[in-house]
Amino acid sequence: MRRRDPSRRRSAARQDRVLRASRSIVLSWDQGEMLACNFLTRQVTTCSTDLVEFLSRLQDWQRIDEIIRAFQGVTADALNALVNATLLVERGSETARREEEFLSAWNWGVPAAMLHFCLQDADFVPLEDAEQLQVAKSKQVQSPALHLPNRGRFDPVIPLKDQARDDNALTDVMARRRTVRECDEAAFVGQDAIADCLYAGLGITGWTSNCVGKLPLGMTPSGGARNPFEAYLFVKRVDGLAPGIYHYSAVEHSIGLVREAEIELSDLVAGQDWAETMSCAIVLCASLERTMWKYHDGNAYRVVLIEAGHIGQNIMLAATQAGLTACPTAALSHSRIRDAIGLERITDTPVYTLTIGVPQDQVHLAA
Ligand SMILES: Cc1cc2nc3c(=O)[nH]c(=O)nc-3n(C[C@H](O)[C@H](O)[C@H](O)COP(=O)(O)O)c2cc1C
Repeated sequence: MRRRDPSRRRSAARQDRVLRASRSIVLSWDQGEMLACNFLTRQVTTCSTDLVEFLSRLQDWQRIDEIIRAFQGVTADALNALVNATLLVERGSETARREEEFLSAWNWGVPAAMLHFCLQDADFVPLEDAEQLQVAKSKQVQSPALHLPNRGRFDPVIPLKDQARDDNALTDVMARRRTVRECDEAAFVGQDAIADCLYAGLGITGWTSNCVGKLPLGMTPSGGARNPFEAYLFVKRVDGLAPGIYHYSAVEHSIGLVREAEIELSDLVAGQDWAETMSCAIVLCASLERTMWKYHDGNAYRVVLIEAGHIGQNIMLAATQAGLTACPTAALSHSRIRDAIGLERITDTPVYTLTIGVPQDQVHLAA
């Protein structure tokens, strides 16, 4: 039996492939150069008006051999380059699958999508580099004032009571909250303290109902009581818990083991070294579809981010009360977190992380 030439088989397969223009491309101009950004893949490619015209004529799936016949001068190699740049997508590919999921699941429009997808897995500037940049910048331009006085601007100015002399347990805890990045690398944190943090952030304290059903009410406010956040606990050293990943069920006030694992906390927060001194981390992940189900405009994306701040603050205060520090971190390794937890839906996303540890001392390292 004659064996087929594998390279011919491959090239035949190439001509069989079916492509169309990506549905997640946005155009912009930088110094006169047109740029095409695929916000789902975060790839940016220089673009010409001819290419835009070509893409606009490839809105429906077409076989490669048909495209080559229909467009003079277009080669298989050129099409492959456009597939690599994700300006074209191939039917059946992972890029096409994600795009289809985006088209069916995302109803907050392109501006919110660009903000959300383009800022995933952003590079983190290490603290030392950030300081050098600030020093260099301050030699060129002074920092804007970071607070505004009343005296000299308004009249009259009414002094308020002396908070320091107050006996107010709540504001006292609030005033003691600090981001401490140097923690005891051997210390275990108490399971009950972590329970307090989770409850303070996401605990359910009541129920209400509206025209379509029951809605949970929590420790923090939530737009439309849609409660988009779930918390995952990444454990290195917590009393009574094996290292691994746990899910907090607010409705049960329980944690469920997702899987045991050796946890590198810095892997969750874009490689920030200091996170390794922490004992555990609470990662807040939003199920955007919960909020999308009710709110159809992109402004609801802001609502979700604001809610993360409320939850984070409550977690930080509970940690402070327990003598711990909870460091807020927005520089996330989104993809790693998604893989570690097993978040698969395009609308499920890590938003905010609180790394929790036992402060070595109360020295506050300036950001
Ligand atoms: C939304 C948000 C994101 C932050 N992200 C980081 C981060 O990625 N890395 C970090 O070291 N600190 C981060 N911080 C902590 C700030 O640097 C810190 O709050 C600031 O220096 C003020 O210190 P304090 O929290 O003790 O008041 C973040 C704070 C907030 C509110």
